[in-house]
Amino acid sequence: MSVPTQKRFKNPRAQHDFKGRTCSIVAVGSYVPERVLTNADLEKMMDTSDEWITTRTGIKERRIAADNEFTSDIGAKAALLAMKRADIAPDQIDLIIVATITPDMLFPSTACLVQQKIGAKRAAAFDIEAACSGFIYGLEIGQQFIMSRTYDTVLVIGAEKLSSIIDWTDRNTGVLFGDGGGAAILQNRPDSHGLLTACMGADGSKGGLLSMPAGGSQCPATAKSVSDRLHYLRMDGKETFKNAVNAMYKAANEVLQRCELEISQIKCVIPHQANRRIIDAVAERLNAKPEQVFINLEKYGNTSAASVAIALDEAVQCGRIQSGDLLLLLVFGAGLTWGAAVIEW
Ligand code: UT7
Repeated sequence: MSVPTQKRFKNPRAQHDFKGRTCSIVAVGSYVPERVLTNADLEKMMDTSDEWITTRTGIKERRIAADNEFTSDIGAKAALLAMKRADIAPDQIDLIIVATITPDMLFPSTACLVQQKIGAKRAAAFDIEAACSGFIYGLEIGQQFIMSRTYDTVLVIGAEKLSSIIDWTDRNTGVLFGDGGGAAILQNRPDSHGLLTACMGADGSKGGLLSMPAGGSQCPATAKSVSDRLHYLRMDGKETFKNAVNAMYKAANEVLQRCELEISQIKCVIPHQANRRIIDAVAERLNAKPEQVFINLEKYGNTSAASVAIALDEAVQCGRIQSGDLLLLLVFGAGLTWGAAVIEW
């Protein structure tokens, strides 16, 4: 992978180096809460079984945050680890983007709370809400600020405390999700891991497939909204499944074509960790070999915006990814939203 990126990719949108500017992921970090909730634990809480959860999803356990541990704490811990690895001081950070569907509160933003917790006093801060696609949306937004020379150092975080919006009486959703966070630091650093291209997509007409109906302006919190259990995540699993496979497959092709890459050139595919069967179906359609695909959902379940960020960090830490490897990140989530990114590590 020593060929200069500019020569390898003809499409300017796929160029790592654009008018002397580069967007690199200089470090990643992640954090998951200590408490483990196993399938055996869930068997005692609802009408389900380890056998059903394992065969239908691949999930064996997930992490659950402590009562006094919030999304901003989870995001801040992941960010501090990434900052340490990148040797970045808090006052070097220009912008903090937090992707989450479980903000500490509706406002102020979780990004502002993280800013205070990591001491990044100079940074601008805002949240984005693209559900499970949030981390790639965040990378793409961060990249635009780096490439436009607006900022030099952007911190992108995907963090969730999904246990706060899970209906533990609903076996259709209660077994699927977990808490955690991942972070990446973006800088203009030609010598570091390059974010080559990213794409984002959305289809609002299918928003009803996966939503939390109450708590916003359409259905503010009332005694009735609480007793009707409207403050929990709801999902039409089967339709979501079909859309997930199609959208991630299309997004993968879009970024591969932009970069003029074949799937065989990708060292590691890191898909959104929602369901093992979704990942297998996408990999099969892409003609990706099982050994190309990174999966860690058995340990964490679906952590929404944190999912690919945690997986990317783990893939790096366990040595699955080496310098110069090409990575393909794929996401899909409520909205509907989806996205893909190619990274040269
Ligand atoms: O991150 C955002 C994107 N989210 C996703 O991508 C999730 C997409 N969807 C899925 O992963 C799958 O659709 C699920 C895992 C949610 C469900 O798997 P499925 O194979 O689509 O099952 P199903 O919903 O069709 O349910 C099959 C059966 C039903 O029973 P009957 O009607 O056949 O008697 C369900 O009631 O399995 C039953 N069931 C369960 N049984 C035991 C559903 N959930 C459970 C459970 N334990 N937890």
